[in-house]
Amino acid sequence: MSKVYVFEHPLIQHKVAMIRDKNTTTKDFRQLVKEIAMLMTFESTRDLALEEVEIETPICKTTVKQLQGLDVAIVPILRAGLGMVDGVLEIMPNAKVGHVGLYRDPETHEPVEYYCKMPEDIDKRKIYVVDPMLATGGSAVAAIDFVKARGGKNITFMCLIAAPEGIEELQKKHPDVDIYIAAKDEKLNENAYIVPGLGDAGDRIFGTK
Ligand code: PRP
Ligand code: URA
Repeated sequence: MSKVYVFEHPLIQHKVAMIRDKNTTTKDFRQLVKEIAMLMTFESTRDLALEEVEIETPICKTTVKQLQGLDVAIVPILRAGLGMVDGVLEIMPNAKVGHVGLYRDPETHEPVEYYCKMPEDIDKRKIYVVDPMLATGGSAVAAIDFVKARGGKNITFMCLIAAPEGIEELQKKHPDVDIYIAAKDEKLNENAYIVPGLGDAGDRIFGTK
């Protein structure tokens, strides 16, 4: 079974509180989503492997610790996942970016696919699938199905707010995929929106409603 990590860092929690507020403007919302994604990436990379190398400071030779090479791909679920990409890239600027286009059918709440483009060497990369919201889990499961169908193996899912129903579904369908979240909410409502949540993440990032 996969692991679920909830990032309790006070800066992350403070910023999540701000994006929940319905009076937060589109400009601030977008900036905060980027900042939370950056902080979550920082927290999630605590275990990266280091190696010792010898360098010369202006004073003498010394041994320092550097990151061992790690090839990363970020895969945002369109559209709202796009809001997290720049934040992740701030911490991992060499990452490549693949895209999966999905939206939830407003009647059935089932994901509908419309786009998929991955880096060619996706099978060799550590992959972060990102989306601000994990509600029923349908979109995350379908996106990860896509990524696996193209050879992706080492996959983590990172989102800002998750419902218990979505976590359960994702763990059931993809037990190999660890889940990083900033907040675990109470439940879904009758329209499959997360309660208390933050509303429609895509609309709030792009100002479409
Ligand atoms: C939202 C969100 C997730 C999905 C989560 O996208 O960004 O992708 O819903 O819901 P689920 O877990 O029930 O699948 P939406 O379908 O609103 O599309 P958008 O990003 O284009 O706004
Ligand atoms: N998608 C969103 O953007 N918000 C929700 O609460 C659920 C799905």
